[in-house]
Amino acid sequence: MKDNTFYITTPIYYPSGKLHIGHAYCTVATDAMARYKRLTGCDVMFLTGTDEHGQKIEDKAREAGVTPQQFVDSIVAAPRGVLDLWKLMNISYDRFIRTTDGYHVSAIQNIFKAMYDNGDIYKGSYQGKYCKDCEAFWTETQLADGKCPDCGREVHDAQEEAYFFRLSKYADRVQHLLEDTDFLEPRSRVHEMVNNFIKPGLEDLCVSRTSFTWGVPVDFDPGHVVYVWIDALFNYTTALGYMNDQYHDLEKFWPADVHFVGKEIVRFHSIIWPAMLMSMGLPLPKKVYGHGWLLLDGGKMSKSKGNVVDPYLLSERYGVDALRFFLLRTFPFGSDGNFSNELLINTINVDLANDLGNLVSRTTAMAEKYFDGKLPELRQADYALDQDLGGMAGSLRNRYEEQMEKFQFQNALEEVFKVIQRANKYIDETCPWALAKDLDANAPRLAAVLYHLLETIRICAVLLTPFMPDSCHKIFSQIGALASAQTWDSAGTWGVLPLQVQVNKGEALFPRIDMSAELEALEQAAQAAKQAVLPVIELEPQSREAVDFDTFCKSDFRAVKVKDCQSVKKSDKLLRFTLNDGTGTDRQILSGIAKWYKPEDLIGKTLVAIVNLPPRKMMGLESCGMLISAVHTEKGEEKLNLLMLDDAIPAGAKLC
Ligand code: MSP
Repeated sequence: MKDNTFYITTPIYYPSGKLHIGHAYCTVATDAMARYKRLTGCDVMFLTGTDEHGQKIEDKAREAGVTPQQFVDSIVAAPRGVLDLWKLMNISYDRFIRTTDGYHVSAIQNIFKAMYDNGDIYKGSYQGKYCKDCEAFWTETQLADGKCPDCGREVHDAQEEAYFFRLSKYADRVQHLLEDTDFLEPRSRVHEMVNNFIKPGLEDLCVSRTSFTWGVPVDFDPGHVVYVWIDALFNYTTALGYMNDQYHDLEKFWPADVHFVGKEIVRFHSIIWPAMLMSMGLPLPKKVYGHGWLLLDGGKMSKSKGNVVDPYLLSERYGVDALRFFLLRTFPFGSDGNFSNELLINTINVDLANDLGNLVSRTTAMAEKYFDGKLPELRQADYALDQDLGGMAGSLRNRYEEQMEKFQFQNALEEVFKVIQRANKYIDETCPWALAKDLDANAPRLAAVLYHLLETIRICAVLLTPFMPDSCHKIFSQIGALASAQTWDSAGTWGVLPLQVQVNKGEALFPRIDMSAELEALEQAAQAAKQAVLPVIELEPQSREAVDFDTFCKSDFRAVKVKDCQSVKKSDKLLRFTLNDGTGTDRQILSGIAKWYKPEDLIGKTLVAIVNLPPRKMMGLESCGMLISAVHTEKGEEKLNLLMLDDAIPAGAKLC
């Protein structure tokens, strides 16, 4: 039975590489929402985690030469891994699920079996197109220009014996859910789902794989693993204890109040997920909210494109709160937003340094200067001015709440900043410094002015706490707001600070940033970070294409002695070798290695050549064979070493 509870989730992240600020965006939004709900008195469950199965992880682990489990462990729990990033970003999650957790794995097996038993999962044969990166199967008609409609990458033919989920059976119910309820928001996403996926005909969904093994095994049919999206989506319920004994919170928190998800995974959450819940007879989540992407130079940030922005770098320079605030203040949550360093610095300077930071520092500085930090009890009102500010601040909570309930973070913050700007204007209108010139006469009025400012700051700080928890706590201690003046109730009430409030001016909360110097420094830091993350040694990936043994044996590798070596005129790459290959006739080979060797250093060396390649002409000279070298990349630079043999090996010796 749900009673004053609030269950909110983020997508669970693929630990396939470094998380970037695009990933942090959704989690920061979820965190702000969770903190807001806690502030209003809700019993909140905020779930996040990692989605650790699938072919992509299996492939990456193989490339790294470790087991898939070692691979995901190293990304989730490693320094600067997923858990570290959420700690850095001050993410107040209540539960963290890993899809490799034993309780989740067995719960998924139970769920799969239950859908098999109720007839919604059946065995068939799959033929279609598969996108490895999205772990998604597509029909021909769903492809966009022959490529994956989600990520635009190549898709491959796939055929295998597989289990299917009767998605088609639920098409009408899902369409009704999308069109006739407010299950999916923003509404623009509804049309996209219905027109692109449901109306063309919902086909049954392939929900098992036999082509790889890193997944939840189908326990009643060895060789099959559960499709990673089934495994992933049900995390929202297994983390509450559905089909397992690890937790017992299903009754309390399910159905979820909202799943926040990026727009490219709305399809999974608004079509497949409700259909599977219907099949399992579980209530549906109240809402799926598909937020937009953070773009960089107009394109989605992604590791594979190399255009990611590092949240560590930014929070080290500006503080985590400034970064959290920027993400939610600058971009409307439902739409895409273009990230830029200029925008970030500008938001910090305008909103945080100029408006909020200045208001707090001017007010607390005046309280200290004129009243030694403690306001006198005397008051003298100026009705028009005071009521204008007090009225606006006193009613702010309602306007803010209206926007927060719609996940319109940008608008909620806009309401708060209108009040902050009004308060700064109030300082200019009331001119406290002029009043202070005759403190004996004006103390009651000056005290009233400062009290109005402190109360306004307090209300704004309470409402900003979900976005900037640490900074708001600093503000509370500067303006003398005790715990009872930091609550949701107190944010809707004017006059909560005691009349003789004690103020303590602290250090500046958000120092102003010099835009051009900072942009330059950021650029340098980004370059340095790129260098730092370059692996010291990078090797060519090993070829997966098998060569049969007989073909391999046809290559004739021989020891050769360098009789002469010269540079080639007009070529800065080639060296011309005259070689003794043991046949009695000199062999000429041209090799593009001038960047690494001086010709004179090679004379007399014993090298390895493949001697049965057809002759080739280079710069008008004939090359009969190829010298063998070892290549790798070191700190971003290509390195080459000729393979050299012991000089005791005679020219012409065969290598096999
Ligand atoms: N594992 C799936 C989710 C399964 S949920 C049952 C997944 N993982 S992900 O790591 O690829 O992405 C996690 C979230 O980050 C997604 O919601 C995705 O939209 C979001 N973002 C990744 N890059 C982003 C931006 N550049 N901007 C905003 N959000 C982006 O999908």
